[in-house]
Parts: sequence; structure tokens; C-alpha cells
Amino acid sequence: MSNSGSYNNPVLFPGNEYSRMLSEKYHYKEWMISRFLNYIPDAEDLLKYVDTKSNLHTYIRANTLKIDPNSLKVRLLEKGFKLKNTIVDEVFEVINHGSDQFTKKVTSGVSTGVSSSSSMDSLIRNPSARISSNQIKEEQSNSKERKLPSLGSTFEYLKGYYYIQDLSSGVAVSEMDIHPSDDFHVLDMAAAPGGKTTHIAQKLNNLGKIVACESNPNRLPSLVFNLSRMGVKNTLVLKIKSEDIMQLGFRFDRVLLDAPCTCEGIILKDESRKRSRTIRDLNICSNRQKRMILAGFEALKPGGIMIYSTCSFAPEENEMIIQFLIDKFKNAQIEPLNYGSSGLTTFNDIIFSSNMNQTRRFYPHLHDTNGFFIAKIRKSTEPDGV
Ligand SMILES: C[S@@+](CC[C@H](N)C(=O)[O-])C[C@H]1O[C@@H](n2cnc3c(N)ncnc32)[C@H](O)[C@@H]1O
Repeated sequence: MSNSGSYNNPVLFPGNEYSRMLSEKYHYKEWMISRFLNYIPDAEDLLKYVDTKSNLHTYIRANTLKIDPNSLKVRLLEKGFKLKNTIVDEVFEVINHGSDQFTKKVTSGVSTGVSSSSSMDSLIRNPSARISSNQIKEEQSNSKERKLPSLGSTFEYLKGYYYIQDLSSGVAVSEMDIHPSDDFHVLDMAAAPGGKTTHIAQKLNNLGKIVACESNPNRLPSLVFNLSRMGVKNTLVLKIKSEDIMQLGFRFDRVLLDAPCTCEGIILKDESRKRSRTIRDLNICSNRQKRMILAGFEALKPGGIMIYSTCSFAPEENEMIIQFLIDKFKNAQIEPLNYGSSGLTTFNDIIFSSNMNQTRRFYPHLHDTNGFFIAKIRKSTEPDGV
């Protein structure tokens, strides 16, 4: 990469009239907008998308440790949910879910959302009208409309038949090429609340071993709860900084680093991030990601695969981290991925390795997902090039 010194600091761009207009209109800090205009295609469309939330997509992943995806689909269809297949076999998009606008007519099984005139309406129009108790009972059963339960409160959810998670997360784990066998070992370097750990466990069919690291004690209960809810039996949870994983002496066939990041890509789910994030946060995240990716790569067996992902658009947390790794280790090779837009090959005056285009970016306004980045790295069997 040229200008290698410059990837140590976040890149800032001078503002202009357009970036000022957008930051005022959509309530972002201007430095964020000036940056977005330099690495997000059709950036204004993304800002509109976040603003209107007109087209938010919700996904669930069937837990094949407990149910096959088709049986889950049938059960949820019977409850009134509408599901659509996606590019990942076990992930469905939920078209209607427990929000107020969706109701289901219980008796007919047809969603209408339109209520008909009731005995109560008649009484209001004509207070002297006589309404029989039978008429009221009949109406109660015929026109009773029920809100769909929220996706997190169904029997199927509580039984661990599915996990609510974005499609991009499902893609990340699908790209790990996991083979279920007793001697297959996977490291999840940033595990809580367990969305991807539980997906890895089902890909392993509960065989092999997963070591799931989480450094934040407050996030451990959610991880342990989800592992238990989803019936995962092959996972060791460690409360450690995963940078320290080498001290344990384990080596892994696969490593997932779903790195802690500035979360730019989920602004549409947490709008406070439009103004709460600082350049310092970006710097802190980027430095931690560098430490974590080095440790993860070291813990990988020769021939093994590492998936690096973030829910950020920032090149400092994505392509620059991958470039940092491949500059350090000659045996770190970027491998192609199946979905998403190509990773950046340039940013400002920085030129990345040409195969950086094999990394993948996901944009809400283009892919109907969270903002997300995925890179697939193989550790070749050549000696380390440190
Ligand atoms: C993006 S979230 C992980 C989401 C998770 N992979 C999933 O799919 O549900 C990043 C997690 O990394 C944890 N974390 C931050 N720094 C860490 C470190 N040095 N070692 C291990 N975990 C860390 C955070 O507390 C957070 O829970």
C-alpha cells in the first residue's frame, strides 16, 4: 500500500456546501458526512434511507440444531408471519412482524387490518338499539383481530428455534467454510451476545469445539443465555481479551473476528450514533482491531481461514486493517467472497492491494442489510513473513 504511514490515523476531509447541507438536514456531525461522501456509494440515498426508515428489513436464522428451516417456516406462517427466502439457506426475511400495523384475523386466517362495523358502532349511532348477547359473542369470535407477537416473544423463539439477526451476519458465518467434525476447532474472538457463535455451532452440528471470547463481563450473561437457548453444547466461553488468546496455546481451523467497532453501519437502528461518535473513537477502535487481527491470525492453523467483519463503513476499520495484516504476514491471503459490493481499492491518497476488491461491503440502501464489511483471509502453508 502506498502512503503506509497514513493508515495510522483516521482520514478527515474538508467540508463543503453539500456536506454542510446534508449534515444539517440529516443531523449528523459534518466530519462524518464529508467522510461518507468519500466511501459510501450514493451516500445521500443512505442518509434518506436512515431518515425515513421506510424499508427496514428484519431477518431470522433457523437453528438447525433444533428444527429444520422448512418446519420453522411452516410454524411461523401458521402464526401469521410472512417469510421470504434469502441468499443464506437458513436465514429468512420476516416481511411482517410484531409491530402495531400488522394484525391477523384469527378466524379467517386472512390478514386484513380493516375492521368492520360492530354492535358497539351501532350502539353509538343508535343508543336505543337492542343488541343480543349472542350477537356480541359472534362478533367477538368473528372479528377478533390479534396483533402478531413480537419476534422475540414467540414460543419458537423461546425454544431456540431461531435467532433474530441481520442477513449480513448470516453471510459472514456462511463464508467460514465450516466442516462438522470432532476435531474441528473454531475461535470466536468477540462473541457476545452470541449471534455468530450459535450460528457456528449449528454449522458444526454441535461437533468439534468453539472457544468464544468476550472481555466485557456485562455482556457475558446474554452470550451464555443464547448458547443455552439455542442448545449449543460444544462451546467454551472465556472472559478474556482475545488479544491474549495465544497465551492459552490453542490453534484453530477457523477464526472469526467480528470486531468491536464504531458501528457506523447500524446508525439506522441507533440514531444517537449520528452525533455521539468521535474521531477518537475511530482511532481507538482501529488500534484495537489491529491488535486483535494479529492475535487471531497467529492463532490460526496453517491452511486455516479467518473471517474479519465489522458493522462499520469506515476504511480505517475495514480495508486498512486487512492491509495492515497482509503487510505484516506474507502468508495472509485475501480470498474471494460471494455477496456484497467490492471492498475499496483506494481511499483518499491510499492505494490498497489490488485484491482488496475481494473483500465485501454491504450497504443498507443497496443490499437491504445493516452496513457491514467482510474479509476472508487464508493462512497459507508458507512460513510467516513477519
Ligand atoms: C460486534 S460485538 C460482537 C457481536 C457477536 N459476534 C454476535 O454476532 O453476536 C463485539 C464484542 O466484542 C467485545 N469485545 C471488545 N473488545 C474485546 C476484546 N479485546 N476481546 C474480546 N471481546 C471484546 C465487546 O464487548 C462486544 O461484545
